[in-house]
Amino acid sequence: MSVQTEKLLQQLEAIVGEAGILTGAALAGRSAGIWSGSALEALALVRPRSTDEVSRVMRACHAAGQVVVPAGGMTGLAGGHWSTATDILLSTERMNRIETMDARARTMVVEAGVILQSVHERAAEDGLMFALDLGARASCTIGGNIATNAGGVRVLRYGMMRDQVLGLEAVLADGTVVSSMFDVLKNNTGYDLRQMFLGSEGTLGIVTRAVLRLHEAPLATETALLAVPTWDQVMELLRYFDAALPGALAAFEVLWRDFYRLNTGPCSSVDPPLDGDTPYYILMDVFIADIDEGRARLESLLTTCLEQGEIVDGSLAASEAERARLWQIRENFEPEQKKFDLIYGYDVSLPLESMADYVESVRSELTARFADAELFAYGHIGDGNLHFSIYPGRARDRDAVDEMVYFPLRALHGSVSAEHGIGLEKKAYLEYTRSAAEIELMRKTKRMMDPGNILNPGKLFDL
Ligand code: LAC
Ligand code: ZN
Repeated sequence: MSVQTEKLLQQLEAIVGEAGILTGAALAGRSAGIWSGSALEALALVRPRSTDEVSRVMRACHAAGQVVVPAGGMTGLAGGHWSTATDILLSTERMNRIETMDARARTMVVEAGVILQSVHERAAEDGLMFALDLGARASCTIGGNIATNAGGVRVLRYGMMRDQVLGLEAVLADGTVVSSMFDVLKNNTGYDLRQMFLGSEGTLGIVTRAVLRLHEAPLATETALLAVPTWDQVMELLRYFDAALPGALAAFEVLWRDFYRLNTGPCSSVDPPLDGDTPYYILMDVFIADIDEGRARLESLLTTCLEQGEIVDGSLAASEAERARLWQIRENFEPEQKKFDLIYGYDVSLPLESMADYVESVRSELTARFADAELFAYGHIGDGNLHFSIYPGRARDRDAVDEMVYFPLRALHGSVSAEHGIGLEKKAYLEYTRSAAEIELMRKTKRMMDPGNILNPGKLFDL
């Protein structure tokens, strides 16, 4: 280690204290995130306790030209938080306080390292709800949700993380603190600097605090799983339920047959609630305000759908435990992990009109080229967001599989990332979705805000 590096580490330790910096052997036990099998690599893991400490850490790193990779819960799926042995990894794990909760204003002020689920639980104590919800809820942090503009299962009804943040505070590459901690819904006073950080993947600043917008919690949630024979019917049912239950459709997920079979099959702990012979399964959440009336209304809509052949079978959860079981089919990835030693994950978006054909054409191109490959499709179809889990077969040709998935999206006006972001994994395909002028403006913004290119360099795009 150079004398300069040693000096920087001493400076950082003086800022965050001995317990706030881990190096060498102290890092050995830490993983690089739940999706990564590998151990964490970093020059040091630095864990500040406040915006002021983050600012001082950044000032020191800026002066030294030291690369800093910000990290929250490390659950990202695009490699945005990956670090190398020469990077400082800045974790918000010790900035995990819920500062204030104002039930009347329906706002909560939190530090960036607060876990999403803690926000859910705190809001629920006051009969409120934080609308962002996703599978990684127990490990992901609000700061990470902001940096990646997370999506999840309620976007259809409430929008993405962008729509849940009223204000935030961030530290720029040179240590400047930009505080936009507004707590009102409307604030039309020039450029929306807050939104610059949402989805910036840690390249423009480190989010340290946020004012979150809360919503009234529904009295209850009904969950149904429906077996649907054709894609046309899936599209019709989305409109049908949204129209029949105005404002109440809170999740509309679709599982293609293979995905459904895998997640209810021998590698899964869930018994199939419906048989696995239908091409599509809709998993749907409906918020209700009156338990008897709401449930009766939903039952009658489902009966009509059955009679008309829009669905061939259905299961309406009768208890919270049953709801959880139905959602487990959608959110549990253990069956994949048990069956395959490697899975490539994708999260694209495209018009629903083209989606079913697109899935089948990717599937046939994949298996024509790699006979032992397998594709599982599912996603937040109410948002036009499709996920693939692809077992690439023994060939393990990531570039070839990526190209099969991404290339057709250009003609279909789709996006190479609906919600996970670009990180490192999709960098090469950013230009499939964003124009040269857009990418150049992003680069100019990055150069202006981080002239030394020390904040998460090489993520999103290369300069
Ligand atoms: C999900 C993750 C993959 O929707 O985004 O389960
Ligand atoms: Zn998703």
